[in-house]
Amino acid sequence: MKKMKIANGPAAVPAIVQGCMRMPALGTDAAAELIRCAYELGISFFDHANIYGGGEAETRFGDAFSMTGLKREDVILQSKCGICPARKVFDWSREEIISSVEGSLKRLKTDYLDVLLLHRPDLLYEPEEVAAAFDELEQSGKVRWFGMSNVPPMMFELLKKYVKQPLIFDQVQFSMEQSQLIDQPLFMNNKTTDMSFMRDGGLLDYCRLNDITIQCWSPLQVGMFGGNFVDNPDYPELNAALAEVGEKYGLSKSAAAIAFILRHPANMQVIAGTMNKEHLADLVSAADARLTRDDWYKLYLASGKFLP
Ligand SMILES: NC(=O)c1ccc[n+]([C@@H]2O[C@H](COP(=O)([O-])OP(=O)(O)OC[C@H]3O[C@@H](n4cnc5c(N)ncnc54)[C@H](OP(=O)(O)O)[C@@H]3O)[C@@H](O)[C@H]2O)c1
Repeated sequence: MKKMKIANGPAAVPAIVQGCMRMPALGTDAAAELIRCAYELGISFFDHANIYGGGEAETRFGDAFSMTGLKREDVILQSKCGICPARKVFDWSREEIISSVEGSLKRLKTDYLDVLLLHRPDLLYEPEEVAAAFDELEQSGKVRWFGMSNVPPMMFELLKKYVKQPLIFDQVQFSMEQSQLIDQPLFMNNKTTDMSFMRDGGLLDYCRLNDITIQCWSPLQVGMFGGNFVDNPDYPELNAALAEVGEKYGLSKSAAAIAFILRHPANMQVIAGTMNKEHLADLVSAADARLTRDDWYKLYLASGKFLP
């Protein structure tokens, strides 16, 4: 598995991360098998959030991990906080951040998180409060590194004014079907397509300039959890191109869609959400493939985009 160095963060992380949002679908034994399998495939990095399955995903992982024979330091555990479904608010207050981490640690049965991400922007956030929470979590040894998710460049800039710790990740949606992250520069100031709208404040180049690694969530999904685009009859041209390009590199269509993301020079990580060991092993093959420029563009165009 291709490893990456994270600037100001972990020395070596896998290009593909195991997302645990769907883990409540597994029993504890099956979860332990999946964790072990992921680790043996080189995926030593697991992405959580306090809200996945209402906390059930972290609980399942915590129970299962002790059955794997792995040591805590063998893996990187990342979790997120700040979404409060019961209150119908997003909350980046000091109290919420601290209490959320305490809950995650308890459920994951660990005394530290490697990485904490703020999950989605709290419209009422006060950067001083975030800074106070991060200091407390770092000083107590409960969190080693910090980042954010679904956050635009200027929020990074404002937080950087107050937060001492480097912000090392932005976890955002990116896939062949949801490719807004890369589309906009093609049509910059052109009025003929809504691809020209800059929705994210130039996040991709901002992250590259500032050594922030982008983690791509839902790499195979249509919209937000609309099912996979692979083998989806609504995407015939894309599936034909994934099959053709995939065959050339010995990749399945799903793995070719992951290789498309990993080929981008921004060195993004992919957060894969499969709970199926065979699917996971299949996706891992993408990490060793390097698509040519022409094959990458072939896939991009087949996903419904066009060049000016
Ligand atoms: N930061 C955020 O706001 C945010 C939002 C959403 C998700 N996330 C993170 O991103 C992770 C991934 O999200 P996701 O689960 O939506 O992503 P995904 O990897 O695009 O989708 C996984 C789904 O695709 C299915 N699938 C079917 N065939 C597959 C194949 N051949 N290979 C792989 N998967 C196949 C999986 O089913 P099987 O299990 O049967 O393979 C699973 O239901 C989550 O676990 C979470 O950690 C973050």
